[in-house]
Amino acid sequence: MAGLVKWRDADSRSITNLSDGHRVKLIGWVFTKRVHSNKVFFMLRDRYGYIQLVGDSERLGDAFKQVSEIPVESAIAVEGVVKRDPRAPGGVEVHIDKVDVVARADVWPITPSVAKSPEAMFDLRHLTIRGPKSRAVLLTRSALVQAAWEYFVNNDYVLITAPTFITSAVEGGATLFELKYFDRKAYLTQSSQFYEEAAICVFEKVFVMQPSFRAEKSRTRKHLTEFLHIEAEVAFADHEDIMDVEEELVKYIVNRLNELVPKEVEYVRGSRLPDIDSRFERISYDEAIEILQRKGFDISWGEDFGADEERALSEEFDVPFFVYGFPTVTRSFYHMDDPTRPEVTLSSDLMAPEGFGEITSGGQRIHEYDYLLSKIRRMGLNPEEYGWYLEIRKYGMPPHSGFGMGVERVLRWLLHLPHVRDATLFPRTPSRLYP
Ligand code: 4AD
Ligand code: MG
Repeated sequence: MAGLVKWRDADSRSITNLSDGHRVKLIGWVFTKRVHSNKVFFMLRDRYGYIQLVGDSERLGDAFKQVSEIPVESAIAVEGVVKRDPRAPGGVEVHIDKVDVVARADVWPITPSVAKSPEAMFDLRHLTIRGPKSRAVLLTRSALVQAAWEYFVNNDYVLITAPTFITSAVEGGATLFELKYFDRKAYLTQSSQFYEEAAICVFEKVFVMQPSFRAEKSRTRKHLTEFLHIEAEVAFADHEDIMDVEEELVKYIVNRLNELVPKEVEYVRGSRLPDIDSRFERISYDEAIEILQRKGFDISWGEDFGADEERALSEEFDVPFFVYGFPTVTRSFYHMDDPTRPEVTLSSDLMAPEGFGEITSGGQRIHEYDYLLSKIRRMGLNPEEYGWYLEIRKYGMPPHSGFGMGVERVLRWLLHLPHVRDATLFPRTPSRLYP
C-alpha cells in the first residue's frame, strides 16, 4: 500500500484553481452515484469536500460497466481531466478515464428508513459520521478546540495534563464513576481543577483539554457521561478576572470560527455566527430567581436551576450572560464564600442565550488552609480525602480562580444542534456505550 498517496496530485480544494483540460489524479470515497444510460456521475468525497466525477462509455470503453457498478462508499483512485461546468457543484468536474477500486464497499446499510430513526443512526455512528452534516460539525469542533488552544497559548497559559484515575470527588459524590483499581477503589475524574490548582504555583496560568466523566443519569439534551472539558486556572486572579477571561475566550472562539470554518458553520446552523461585540451582561443569582418567579416558576432562593428553569432564563437573552453569586449550599466545597455575604459564593455560570443554557462554571477558590478545612467539615466531607489538596494551601498558595467549559455544550449552542451527542464523534450517554 505504500506510495498510494502518489495517486493524488490534486484534491477537491485545489482543483478549483486548475484550468480546463488539466490532467489530475484524485483519491477519495464514492459519496453518491447516478447512472444515466452511457454516463456515470460520482460525487467523490475527500478530506476537503466534494467533487463531481463524470465517466462515459466512450472514454472508459470496456471498463464502463464495471465502473458504473462501484458501490457507494468504496475508496477509489481516478485519473481524468478538469472541465468547468456551471452545473457541477463547485463549478468544476473531472471527466475520468481511469478508475482503480482501492477498497470496495459492501451495500451501504443506511437506507432512508434507517435515517428516520435517530437511535438507529447512532447505532451506526461509525458509518454515519461520513455524512456531510457530521463532517461539518466535527470540523467545527476541531476548529473550536484550535481556537481555544490559540487563545490560551497567545495569553501565556501552559498546557498541563491531569490524571483520569482519581480518589475523591471534585463536583460531589453523586456523579462519580467508580471502578476497581487493582485491589483499591478509584473513580474517573469529573474535572482536572484540583491538579490545575497545584500547577498554578509553578506556571501561574494553566489550561487543560481532556475528557471529564459524570455518572449523570439525567436524560437531557445537554448531558453526556464523557465530555471534552476545557479548563483554566489563574493565580493572583479574583472572580471578576476569571469572568473577563471566559468572556474573552468565548468571543475569540466565535471570531475564529468565522475565519476557520465559515462554510461548515453556515451549512449546519443555516447562518453565519453573529459577531459578539457587546459586554456580556452579569446578573446575580437573586435577579435570576426573580426573573424565573415572574415567569411563573415555582423556585425559591437557595435552589439550583433545573433544566427547564435554565432554558427559560436563557431564552430571555440573545447574547451570552453570566449568572453570579450562587448560594453556598448549591456549590462544591472549594468555592470561596462572598466575604460581604457568606450565604453566596464567588462563583458564576456563563449561560448561552436562546434557551441553550450553561456553557461554563467558574469562580474563586478558597486558598487558605484553615478556611478550606473548616468548609470541608461544615459541608460534612472527610478532610482525609483531600490531603494533598489541603496541603498545597500550606505552601504559598495565592488567591486564584478558574473555570471549566464543556466543548459539546458550546458547539451545540453555536451550531444550534438538537443534542450534545451530535457534537462529538462517539457519544457516551447513560444508554449509549457503543459504538
Ligand atoms: O459546572 P461543572 O461541573 O464545573 C466543574 O467541573 C468545575 N470544576 C470546572 C472548573 O472550575 N475548573 O462543569 C464545567 C462545564 C459545564 O459548565 C458544562 O459546560 C460542562 O462542563 N459539563 C458537561 N457537559 C456535558 N455533559 C455533562 N454531563 C457535563 N457536565 C458538565
Ligand atoms: Mg456547572
